[in-house]
Amino acid sequence: MKTPGQAIWTKVDRYFGDLLVPVDDALNAALKANEQGGLPQIDVTPLQGKFLEFLVRATGARRVLEIGTLGGYSTIWMARALPEGGRVVTLELEQRHARVAQRNLKKAGVAERVEILVGPAMETLPKLASSGAGWGEPFDLIFIDADKQGYPEYLKWALNLSRPGTVIVADNVVRDGKVIHDKSIDPLIQGVRQFAEMVAAEPRLCATVLQTVGVKGYDGFALAVVLR
Ligand code: SAH
Ligand code: DHB
Ligand code: MG
Repeated sequence: MKTPGQAIWTKVDRYFGDLLVPVDDALNAALKANEQGGLPQIDVTPLQGKFLEFLVRATGARRVLEIGTLGGYSTIWMARALPEGGRVVTLELEQRHARVAQRNLKKAGVAERVEILVGPAMETLPKLASSGAGWGEPFDLIFIDADKQGYPEYLKWALNLSRPGTVIVADNVVRDGKVIHDKSIDPLIQGVRQFAEMVAAEPRLCATVLQTVGVKGYDGFALAVVLR
Protein backbone atom coordinates (compact mmCIF):
# COMPACT_ATOMS: atom_id res chain seq x y z
CA MET A 1 0.00 0.00 0.00
CA LYS A 2 1.21 3.48 -0.88
CA THR A 3 1.95 5.48 2.28
CA PRO A 4 -0.57 8.31 2.69
CA GLY A 5 1.05 11.73 2.77
CA GLN A 6 0.53 15.47 2.47
CA ALA A 7 -1.56 15.32 -0.73
CA ILE A 8 -4.25 13.13 0.81
CA TRP A 9 -4.11 14.94 4.19
CA THR A 10 -4.86 18.18 2.33
CA LYS A 11 -7.72 16.62 0.35
CA VAL A 12 -9.32 15.09 3.43
CA ASP A 13 -8.90 18.35 5.40
CA ARG A 14 -10.61 20.21 2.53
CA TYR A 15 -13.38 17.57 2.32
CA PHE A 16 -14.30 17.86 6.00
CA GLY A 17 -13.57 21.58 6.05
CA ASP A 18 -16.01 22.18 3.18
CA LEU A 19 -18.65 20.12 5.00
CA LEU A 20 -18.21 21.46 8.52
CA VAL A 21 -16.78 24.98 8.26
CA PRO A 22 -19.11 27.35 6.41
CA VAL A 23 -17.48 30.02 4.23
CA ASP A 24 -17.03 32.96 6.59
CA ASP A 25 -16.26 36.48 5.41
CA ALA A 26 -14.76 37.70 8.69
CA LEU A 27 -12.42 34.73 9.07
CA ASN A 28 -11.35 34.91 5.42
CA ALA A 29 -10.83 38.67 5.72
CA ALA A 30 -8.67 38.09 8.82
CA LEU A 31 -6.41 35.64 6.95
CA LYS A 32 -6.16 38.10 4.06
CA ALA A 33 -5.32 41.00 6.39
CA ASN A 34 -2.65 38.86 8.07
CA GLU A 35 -1.09 38.09 4.72
CA GLN A 36 -1.20 41.73 3.62
CA GLY A 37 0.31 42.74 6.95
CA GLY A 38 3.19 40.33 6.41
CA LEU A 39 2.27 38.13 9.39
CA PRO A 40 3.48 34.51 9.23
CA GLN A 41 0.76 32.11 8.05
CA ILE A 42 0.84 29.90 11.12
CA ASP A 43 -2.74 30.29 12.29
CA VAL A 44 -4.68 27.17 13.21
CA THR A 45 -6.47 25.58 10.25
CA PRO A 46 -10.23 26.05 9.71
CA LEU A 47 -11.06 22.62 11.16
CA GLN A 48 -8.74 23.30 14.10
CA GLY A 49 -10.47 26.65 14.62
CA LYS A 50 -13.72 24.71 14.73
CA PHE A 51 -12.08 22.40 17.28
CA LEU A 52 -11.37 25.46 19.46
CA GLU A 53 -15.02 26.48 19.10
CA PHE A 54 -15.97 22.94 20.08
CA LEU A 55 -13.77 23.15 23.20
CA VAL A 56 -15.29 26.45 24.31
CA ARG A 57 -18.80 25.06 23.85
CA ALA A 58 -18.11 21.63 25.36
CA THR A 59 -16.48 23.11 28.47
CA GLY A 60 -19.00 25.96 28.72
CA ALA A 61 -16.00 28.26 29.09
CA ARG A 62 -16.75 31.86 30.00
CA ARG A 63 -13.16 32.93 30.58
CA VAL A 64 -10.58 31.96 27.95
CA LEU A 65 -6.85 32.69 27.98
CA GLU A 66 -4.83 32.48 24.77
CA ILE A 67 -1.04 32.78 24.71
CA GLY A 68 -0.04 33.77 21.14
CA THR A 69 -2.59 35.92 19.26
CA LEU A 70 -0.93 36.45 15.86
CA GLY A 71 -3.75 38.02 13.76
CA GLY A 72 -6.51 36.73 16.02
CA TYR A 73 -7.78 33.95 13.75
CA SER A 74 -7.96 31.41 16.59
CA THR A 75 -9.17 34.19 18.91
CA ILE A 76 -12.19 34.88 16.67
CA TRP A 77 -13.14 31.18 16.73
CA MET A 78 -13.05 31.08 20.54
CA ALA A 79 -14.65 34.50 21.11
CA ARG A 80 -17.61 33.68 18.88
CA ALA A 81 -18.28 30.49 20.83
CA LEU A 82 -18.52 32.25 24.20
CA PRO A 83 -21.79 32.57 26.07
CA GLU A 84 -23.18 36.03 26.82
CA GLY A 85 -20.71 37.89 29.04
CA GLY A 86 -17.78 35.60 28.19
CA ARG A 87 -14.28 37.00 27.65
CA VAL A 88 -11.04 36.07 25.90
CA VAL A 89 -7.74 37.47 27.12
CA THR A 90 -5.04 36.94 24.49
CA LEU A 91 -1.32 37.62 24.88
CA GLU A 92 0.87 38.79 22.00
CA LEU A 93 4.53 39.78 21.91
CA GLU A 94 4.47 41.83 18.71
CA GLN A 95 2.68 45.19 18.64
CA ARG A 96 2.41 44.79 14.85
CA HIS A 97 0.57 41.47 15.18
CA ALA A 98 -1.69 42.88 17.89
CA ARG A 99 -2.68 45.83 15.69
CA VAL A 100 -3.70 43.52 12.85
CA ALA A 101 -5.52 41.27 15.33
CA GLN A 102 -7.43 44.19 16.86
CA ARG A 103 -8.73 45.17 13.42
CA ASN A 104 -9.64 41.57 12.57
CA LEU A 105 -11.50 41.15 15.87
CA LYS A 106 -13.40 44.37 15.29
CA LYS A 107 -14.43 43.29 11.79
CA ALA A 108 -15.58 39.96 13.19
CA GLY A 109 -17.72 41.77 15.76
CA VAL A 110 -15.98 40.30 18.81
CA ALA A 111 -13.61 43.12 19.80
CA GLU A 112 -15.60 43.98 22.92
CA ARG A 113 -15.27 40.40 24.19
CA VAL A 114 -11.51 40.24 23.70
CA GLU A 115 -8.61 41.92 25.44
CA ILE A 116 -5.20 41.78 23.75
CA LEU A 117 -2.28 42.24 26.14
CA VAL A 118 0.86 43.22 24.24
CA GLY A 119 4.31 42.21 25.45
CA PRO A 120 6.26 39.07 26.31
CA ALA A 121 3.82 36.59 27.88
CA MET A 122 6.25 36.15 30.76
CA GLU A 123 5.57 39.81 31.61
CA THR A 124 1.81 39.86 30.99
CA LEU A 125 1.01 36.54 32.73
CA PRO A 126 2.04 37.83 36.19
CA LYS A 127 -0.33 40.79 35.66
CA LEU A 128 -3.20 38.37 35.11
CA ALA A 129 -2.30 36.54 38.28
CA SER A 130 -2.10 39.62 40.48
CA SER A 131 -5.52 40.18 41.99
CA GLY A 132 -5.02 43.95 41.93
CA ALA A 133 -5.28 44.04 38.14
CA GLY A 134 -8.95 43.03 38.34
CA TRP A 135 -8.44 39.63 36.74
CA GLY A 136 -9.28 37.74 39.93
CA GLU A 137 -11.05 34.65 38.58
CA PRO A 138 -9.33 31.59 37.10
CA PHE A 139 -9.68 30.71 33.41
CA ASP A 140 -11.90 27.88 32.14
CA LEU A 141 -9.91 27.21 28.94
CA ILE A 142 -6.28 28.06 28.20
CA PHE A 143 -4.83 27.78 24.67
CA ILE A 144 -1.02 27.85 24.56
CA ASP A 145 0.22 28.72 21.04
CA ALA A 146 3.15 31.16 21.39
CA ASP A 147 6.93 30.55 21.27
CA LYS A 148 7.63 26.88 21.93
CA GLN A 149 10.66 27.64 24.15
CA GLY A 150 8.22 29.28 26.52
CA TYR A 151 5.85 26.30 26.87
CA PRO A 152 7.31 25.01 30.17
CA GLU A 153 6.87 28.40 31.86
CA TYR A 154 3.45 28.90 30.23
CA LEU A 155 2.34 25.59 31.71
CA LYS A 156 3.29 26.78 35.20
CA TRP A 157 1.29 29.96 34.68
CA ALA A 158 -1.62 28.04 33.18
CA LEU A 159 -1.79 25.92 36.32
CA ASN A 160 -1.57 29.06 38.43
CA LEU A 161 -4.47 30.64 36.59
CA SER A 162 -6.69 27.55 36.59
CA ARG A 163 -9.25 25.76 38.78
CA PRO A 164 -10.26 22.09 38.91
CA GLY A 165 -11.91 21.45 35.53
CA THR A 166 -9.89 24.00 33.54
CA VAL A 167 -8.88 22.64 30.15
CA ILE A 168 -5.36 23.42 28.91
CA VAL A 169 -4.55 22.93 25.22
CA ALA A 170 -1.12 23.37 23.63
CA ASP A 171 -0.58 23.59 19.87
CA ASN A 172 2.35 22.26 17.84
CA VAL A 173 3.69 19.57 20.15
CA VAL A 174 4.64 17.15 17.35
CA ARG A 175 6.23 19.31 14.66
CA ASP A 176 6.61 16.71 11.91
CA GLY A 177 7.71 14.21 14.52
CA LYS A 178 10.73 16.27 15.53
CA VAL A 179 9.57 16.05 19.15
CA ILE A 180 11.14 12.59 19.50
CA HIS A 181 14.67 13.92 18.87
CA ASP A 182 15.82 13.76 22.46
CA LYS A 183 19.35 14.91 21.62
CA SER A 184 18.17 17.93 19.60
CA ILE A 185 19.66 21.25 20.64
CA ASP A 186 16.80 23.10 18.91
CA PRO A 187 15.25 25.21 21.71
CA LEU A 188 11.80 24.73 20.18
CA ILE A 189 12.04 20.97 20.48
CA GLN A 190 13.62 21.20 23.92
CA GLY A 191 10.80 23.49 25.01
CA VAL A 192 8.08 21.13 23.85
CA ARG A 193 9.83 18.09 25.34
CA GLN A 194 10.30 19.78 28.71
CA PHE A 195 6.64 20.86 28.57
CA ALA A 196 5.57 17.26 27.89
CA GLU A 197 7.70 15.93 30.75
CA MET A 198 6.26 18.54 33.13
CA VAL A 199 2.71 17.63 32.09
CA ALA A 200 3.50 13.95 32.66
CA ALA A 201 4.95 14.62 36.11
CA GLU A 202 2.10 16.88 37.25
CA PRO A 203 -0.37 14.99 39.43
CA ARG A 204 -2.89 17.81 39.08
CA LEU A 205 -3.28 17.08 35.34
CA CYS A 206 -5.01 14.38 33.32
CA ALA A 207 -3.41 14.73 29.89
CA THR A 208 -3.04 13.24 26.44
CA VAL A 209 -1.70 14.14 23.00
CA LEU A 210 -3.58 13.93 19.70
CA GLN A 211 -1.41 13.83 16.60
CA THR A 212 -2.91 15.69 13.66
CA VAL A 213 -2.44 15.85 9.89
CA GLY A 214 -4.04 18.29 7.47
CA VAL A 215 -3.44 21.27 5.20
CA LYS A 216 -0.64 22.47 7.49
CA GLY A 217 1.16 19.12 7.65
CA TYR A 218 1.83 16.81 10.58
CA ASP A 219 1.59 18.14 14.14
CA GLY A 220 -0.46 17.68 17.29
CA PHE A 221 -2.24 19.08 20.32
CA ALA A 222 -1.55 18.36 23.97
CA LEU A 223 -4.81 18.29 25.92
CA ALA A 224 -5.06 18.42 29.67
CA VAL A 225 -7.70 18.92 32.33
CA VAL A 226 -6.88 20.22 35.80
CA LEU A 227 -7.98 17.71 38.42
CA ARG A 228 -7.42 19.59 41.68
N1 SAH B 1 -3.04 31.46 17.89
C1 SAH B 1 -2.77 32.03 16.58
C2 SAH B 1 -1.36 31.71 16.11
C3 SAH B 1 -0.29 32.16 17.06
S1 SAH B 1 1.31 32.16 16.28
C4 SAH B 1 -3.77 31.45 15.58
O1 SAH B 1 -3.91 30.23 15.53
O2 SAH B 1 -4.40 32.22 14.85
C5 SAH B 1 2.32 32.52 17.65
C6 SAH B 1 2.25 33.97 18.12
O3 SAH B 1 2.93 34.02 19.38
C7 SAH B 1 2.98 34.96 17.20
O4 SAH B 1 2.14 36.04 16.86
C8 SAH B 1 4.14 35.45 18.05
O5 SAH B 1 4.48 36.82 17.84
C9 SAH B 1 3.62 35.24 19.46
N2 SAH B 1 4.69 35.15 20.46
C10 SAH B 1 5.95 34.68 20.30
N3 SAH B 1 6.63 34.79 21.45
C11 SAH B 1 5.80 35.34 22.36
C12 SAH B 1 5.94 35.73 23.71
N4 SAH B 1 7.08 35.56 24.37
N5 SAH B 1 4.88 36.26 24.34
C13 SAH B 1 3.70 36.43 23.68
N6 SAH B 1 3.51 36.09 22.39
C14 SAH B 1 4.55 35.56 21.74
C1 DHB C 1 4.29 27.10 13.20
C2 DHB C 1 2.98 26.69 13.35
C3 DHB C 1 2.25 27.09 14.46
O1 DHB C 1 0.97 26.69 14.66
C4 DHB C 1 2.84 27.88 15.42
O2 DHB C 1 2.10 28.23 16.49
C5 DHB C 1 4.16 28.30 15.28
C6 DHB C 1 4.88 27.92 14.16
C7 DHB C 1 5.05 26.67 12.00
O3 DHB C 1 4.48 25.95 11.18
O4 DHB C 1 6.20 27.08 11.88
MG1 MG D 1 0.32 27.02 16.61
